[in-house]
Amino acid sequence: MKTIIFSFPGNEDLTEKLCKEINAESGQAEIRRFPDGENYTRVLTDVQGKNVVLVCTLNNPDEKLLPLYFFAKTCKENGAGKIVLVAPYLAYMRQDKQFNKGEGVTSKYFASLLSSFCDVLITVDPHLHRFNSLSDIYTIPAYSLHSADLIADYIHKNIENPVLIGPDSESKQWVSKVAESANAPYLVLEKIRHGDKDVEVSVPQVEKYKTHTPVLVDDIISTGHTMMETVKHLLKAGMKAPVCIGVHAVFTGNAYEELLAAGASAIITTNTIFHKSNKIEISVLIADALLKLEKEKH
Ligand code: R5P
Repeated sequence: MKTIIFSFPGNEDLTEKLCKEINAESGQAEIRRFPDGENYTRVLTDVQGKNVVLVCTLNNPDEKLLPLYFFAKTCKENGAGKIVLVAPYLAYMRQDKQFNKGEGVTSKYFASLLSSFCDVLITVDPHLHRFNSLSDIYTIPAYSLHSADLIADYIHKNIENPVLIGPDSESKQWVSKVAESANAPYLVLEKIRHGDKDVEVSVPQVEKYKTHTPVLVDDIISTGHTMMETVKHLLKAGMKAPVCIGVHAVFTGNAYEELLAAGASAIITTNTIFHKSNKIEISVLIADALLKLEKEKH
């Protein structure tokens, strides 16, 4: 069965690369809003009997979910085979338990919604903290791809004498893998979050790494406060200006500029979310996963 790849707005660059890498047809669609804000969706390429890949990274998920749902349903009604959602950044993974009485565990509800209209999910480094794997909450086959080797390769080629630093225990899973692959030492700090933008990070024991280049590694940079706090501590401790590496360039408001102003020497991200800080290319990971899926079907 042939594969046809559609890009949701903002995912054109990645979609073009994927089409080239797996030699797939690029699908044409019209997705827009009526003047009253309702959504219009039309599939222009014939999807009859074809597997459909929808490329839609899920930062700002609330505004993307309904158009995605409508488009997936439209493809199915027009005869498409499997609907594969490629969401390099998967949203709502951090609300993975009831922290306070009465709160919604939205990662579960979001998973259940996506599972109801997609047949397969492919994502990159989802924030798996209290869940062991996506299959804990997704009822469709859901593949987590890992960017650690690509990040390690970037560090190896561009940063001299690095020491990797994870800002909190949750980041250990990423920083330890990258450090192993880059053959570099690493430290993991302790973080206490008092509020969305109020973060406290432990003072690191960095004496023996003063000649190294600190490289902060985390999965998500959102408000940037986790990284900003860590940068401030490292500079105060007499370290060189740190390089900040995030897998997902969420960057709310002026987070990118504020992190640079806080003293980061550079901010580097992968292109799971299109942003000027993207320097690490992940299309090859997704292309491999799509090719494997195609092979499984035969
Ligand atoms: C949370 O545990 C994540 O791994 C990140 O550390 C967090 O999402 C970063 O958020 P912010 O940039 O808003 O501090």
